[in-house]
Amino acid sequence: MKALNLAKVFICIFISVLFLNIKGKEHKGINTKFKEGKTQHTLNLKKDVDIFCSISIVNESSILKLVGEEKIFASLIDNAGRKIKQFNSKEILISGEDLLSGKYFLAVNNEKPIKITVIDHFILCDGAFVEEEEEEEEEEFEGPAYKNPDLPIEERVNDLLSRMTLQEKIDQLSGDPKLDGFTTKYNDNLEIPQIKCVDCPHGVRWGNATFFPVPIAFGSTWDVDLVEEAAGVIGRECRAKGRNMGLAPCINLIRDPRGGRVFETYSEDLYMLSQMALAYVNGLQSQKVIATPKHYICNNSEDVRWNEAAVQIDERTLREVYLPIFRRPIVTGQAWSIMGAYNGVNGEYCCYNEWILREILKEELGFEGFVVSDWGACHSTISSIKAGLDLEMPVTNYYGEPLLQAVENGSVDTAYIDEAVRRILRAKFWAGLFDGMEPVDESVVESPEHISVALEIAKKSIVLLKNEGSILPLDEHSIDSIGVIGPNANTDFRGQGGSSAVTSTYAVNVLEGIINKVGDSIEIMYEEGCEIGTEHAPSYIPGIPDSIKFQQALDVAEKSDVVILVVGLSGAIESEGNDRDYLIFPGVQEQLIKEVISLNSNTILVLKNGSPLATVLEIDTMSLFEACPAILEAWYPGQEGGTAVADVIFGDYNPGGKLPLTFPKSASDLPTWDFDYTNDYTEGRGYKYFDKQGIEPLFPFGHGLSYTEFEYSNLQIIPMVSWNGQITVRVDVTNVGDMEGDEVVQLYIHDVERSTDDQPIKELKGFSRITLAPAESQTVEFTLTPEHLAFHDELINFLVERGRFDVMVGSSSRDIRLGGSFYIMGEIRIR
Ligand code: BGC
Repeated sequence: MKALNLAKVFICIFISVLFLNIKGKEHKGINTKFKEGKTQHTLNLKKDVDIFCSISIVNESSILKLVGEEKIFASLIDNAGRKIKQFNSKEILISGEDLLSGKYFLAVNNEKPIKITVIDHFILCDGAFVEEEEEEEEEEFEGPAYKNPDLPIEERVNDLLSRMTLQEKIDQLSGDPKLDGFTTKYNDNLEIPQIKCVDCPHGVRWGNATFFPVPIAFGSTWDVDLVEEAAGVIGRECRAKGRNMGLAPCINLIRDPRGGRVFETYSEDLYMLSQMALAYVNGLQSQKVIATPKHYICNNSEDVRWNEAAVQIDERTLREVYLPIFRRPIVTGQAWSIMGAYNGVNGEYCCYNEWILREILKEELGFEGFVVSDWGACHSTISSIKAGLDLEMPVTNYYGEPLLQAVENGSVDTAYIDEAVRRILRAKFWAGLFDGMEPVDESVVESPEHISVALEIAKKSIVLLKNEGSILPLDEHSIDSIGVIGPNANTDFRGQGGSSAVTSTYAVNVLEGIINKVGDSIEIMYEEGCEIGTEHAPSYIPGIPDSIKFQQALDVAEKSDVVILVVGLSGAIESEGNDRDYLIFPGVQEQLIKEVISLNSNTILVLKNGSPLATVLEIDTMSLFEACPAILEAWYPGQEGGTAVADVIFGDYNPGGKLPLTFPKSASDLPTWDFDYTNDYTEGRGYKYFDKQGIEPLFPFGHGLSYTEFEYSNLQIIPMVSWNGQITVRVDVTNVGDMEGDEVVQLYIHDVERSTDDQPIKELKGFSRITLAPAESQTVEFTLTPEHLAFHDELINFLVERGRFDVMVGSSSRDIRLGGSFYIMGEIRIR
């Protein structure tokens, strides 16, 4: 049956009923936040209590439905404070179909008490009225207002601020040097709880924790729901360890595949990164753990990460390429914190860059949380506080005493201090730190439920790069012996990766995964062959292998029916603070690959790495990747990684991961890796660069095979002529093979008639991972809104121009199966 792919429709509406202040008017409200599409919520409004909801219209499917037992009087107000609709009925429907995406406010005011039900937009509202509830006797709260959990956050913040001395306020703004390097100061007098940070991009870095595959593997799943689920698990483990702020997600854009933190981020594509970031923020914050998208902004090279002059960028490129990655987790996800990067932008360190922090982040994006410095990234007192850096971490260098003096001698106005404290307190109240949150039991850490999510990500992230002659999956009944060879067969990535290192109590490596699966029926012979090695000189110089080790591996290769050759990188080669210079394999691994393939043509290459690899050696003029019949990209697959790899090799799981970044044939195919980010817009990076230059990659962005085949048909683009920029794209996908499998359906667009002439040839604007049984079909639907189509013109207007847009739907960026076009009839200005 063709089922509309509703599950993949983006999270549609966020409503936060908060104490807001729009155009000078304060609106009392209920301190709650909930997600449309997932919850049905009932609000009991007393007489004359306003509610004021902030609504994010994400796309045309965004729907908010309120049903009152009596007429609801409400107005819809746009971001500029203009009333654009009024309601006076029992049922209010606000639909993304007739609104531009963006932020709106809904003000409800009733003269009588009223119950309103907010209805899941997939559930019919028929009869969904709410039973009258007994009015609860309100108990008088004893104690200061800021301790009263029933009051709105802003009221509590105001009360607490009014009780604090200047010294107490300043104490809120930096890390406690006497503690662990991740915690802020406790205030005894007013009992103000501490912020307790922890790194957690793929698991909690605090004692043992569930060890997930690295973030690039999260990206490789192309499954935002799964990323959200994993972040929820990570959030629970943060709570179990008493940490209330997660230093994640890392959403650095991959400018160059040799970047040291490529493994720690999700994609080379900014749309995909922003989707993953939003999912991560939603997951972590669902556990009341403060999320911290990092590193804001343009933090894409480790070798120059401390450099104030690291990035020159023009405003248009900043807004086109780098800002959109943060916009979604901040504006839609309402992350409560953001981390200022180490590097500078246009000659000023991010942590005192007023343009970046105050003007763009706080004033323009309306960020309500607080900015924390990366560890040691605060470089000044006065400029930082004025620019909008709220929290100096990990210790107190520039804030503390120097800040106190700056206020006392009049260099810094107290308003700056109040603003920073207000932001931090707001987040603390939101996280329930004052309200005695129920602790999460330590037993959840590395529980079977949590580990099963890590295993699911590992399986879903594996990319079948190549499978000549369908050598995979292996049939365990037709094999007598397997040689497991290579320096990464018996390793895991535990404790590696700089600040994102995770240490689980165990990890199943590939060798163990194979033994666990078929060790009873097949003879398994293991040889390391060589070490991972260190980086090479620019031109490949063959290394000198340890002859005994090497020869033992070759002997095993020769006498095995099949070889599983596990090679790649490690945290010693790619990590925080350390970019790679080359793409080629370190050490003598290429020599090992070459010799093993020459001896055994049934060699399956398994890559364990966090960023692309290329080869220079050849066998009969074929590159090593060409000569090898089957290649699996396993990334650093976490604590159940070996189980996942074995499941894929023996066909217990059909791989469906896709590359979230391009694998170049050689580093010489890459654009210059320089400080000038201006080029990033005009020449593109990743697949956009390869498309523009007409360079054939080794494996393209979005590539990944399956043990089954998928057919695409019936592309529909509705409407084909549009005035409002709301376009629905539908495509039917059918599994035409004989095994259940996953396909990631990818939607790219090209703005054909753009006036600036520097648009990408192809830009990802939608993706959906689906699972189909043999012969099953599914209609996958994507919604394009003006936000998806718009760009910044030379005058930095964000708009959609009239003209033709090409739509490309396919299985990878270089495997487009169907195409069509639509026309935008008039200019649509967004901001
Ligand atoms: C890293 C951050 C990390 C912080 C705390 C810094 O060196 O850049 O990503 O959150 O350390 O460990």
